[in-house]
Amino acid sequence: ADLSALNTFRLPARASILLRIRSEDELLRLIAVGHLKGRPHFVLGGGSNLVLAGDFDGIVLKVEIDGRRLVTEGEAGWLVEAGAGEAWHDFVRWTVAQGWPGLENLSLIPGTVGAAPIQNIGAYGVEMADRFAGLDAVDLETGERRVFSAEDCRFGYRDSVFKHEAGRWLVTRVRFLLPRAWAPDVRYGEVGAELAARGIESPTALQVSDAVIAIRRRKLPDPAEIGNAGSFFKNPLVDAGLAGQLRAAHPALPQYPQADGRVKLAAGWLIEHAGWKGRDLGAVGCYERQALVLVNRGGARGEDVCRMAGRICDDVRARFGVVLEPEPVFIGTPD
Ligand code: EPU
Repeated sequence: ADLSALNTFRLPARASILLRIRSEDELLRLIAVGHLKGRPHFVLGGGSNLVLAGDFDGIVLKVEIDGRRLVTEGEAGWLVEAGAGEAWHDFVRWTVAQGWPGLENLSLIPGTVGAAPIQNIGAYGVEMADRFAGLDAVDLETGERRVFSAEDCRFGYRDSVFKHEAGRWLVTRVRFLLPRAWAPDVRYGEVGAELAARGIESPTALQVSDAVIAIRRRKLPDPAEIGNAGSFFKNPLVDAGLAGQLRAAHPALPQYPQADGRVKLAAGWLIEHAGWKGRDLGAVGCYERQALVLVNRGGARGEDVCRMAGRICDDVRARFGVVLEPEPVFIGTPD
């Protein structure tokens, strides 16, 4: 099966088998008849956080479980649920349109609802974990169905238990608690500035969503037009010692102190100041408006992306002593 249309980086690769999962029952039947036994498998959502390094000798399970509903409404707020295959952004806009606020800062993030908890998507001061209320998943080995609480998921910065037990679980549905006691989160400077430029003082959730959409359209390449997988690296966490040295040497490098004493650095700044912003290596480019994003200039292959990422990592490490970690998931083997 051809995967090139199923990953937003638009890298060419094939899987031995592609199975579309439209319901939990369908999945349980596949497991019961032993269809997944003894073969590597990979769970695919929107393919927007994925690098296909090469062909995948196994089964790709494409999650297409749909549906979204209000589960309950209470004093705390609205408990909503969506099938893992729903498009994340459409789900966010639907909640906002219903008058249920809380996800607006996460507008226009590509991908599916089911993928959101895997890497705990986040943007503009909010993480999915802040609104998460639980999920249903199926153990692909045993067919056991399990409900995960936020605690069970062990969310961190672009991290969850599912990243550490890769391939074990398939998320079928996710629930969110959208708070009645809501205030717009405009701590992130760019969001505040965009709203101010629009003359808006106390924004509604819809206005915050619109502002976030405008900012993302300005800075990030639309995967429908330019192949990419969003931020290619995580913002690195370094200890206070290294952060202090870097602060002295590079006062302009954005630093975000964390609760645990470590400091998060802006990887985009490091990459830009290692000289990569706007540069190409073969068919892969370092995006000119946001250095953290690598783009497919046309005809890029997985190995080209890996080569470019390796070169950037080497240069950032040599220049700043900081090790960058890729953010997307890699599958397949280059030939
Ligand atoms: N910066 C540069 N040069 C660049 C890019 C950024 O100097 O080329 C500086 C900016 O000037 C700013 C700082 O780095 O001071 C942070 O940049 P930005 O606000 O664009 O955010 P980011 O840290 O690069 C993160 C997320 C994004 C998310 C934004 C907004 C990660 C890996 N990325 O990017 O998430 O949209 O914050 O909250 O945490 C994604 O994960 O795919 C993604 C797009």
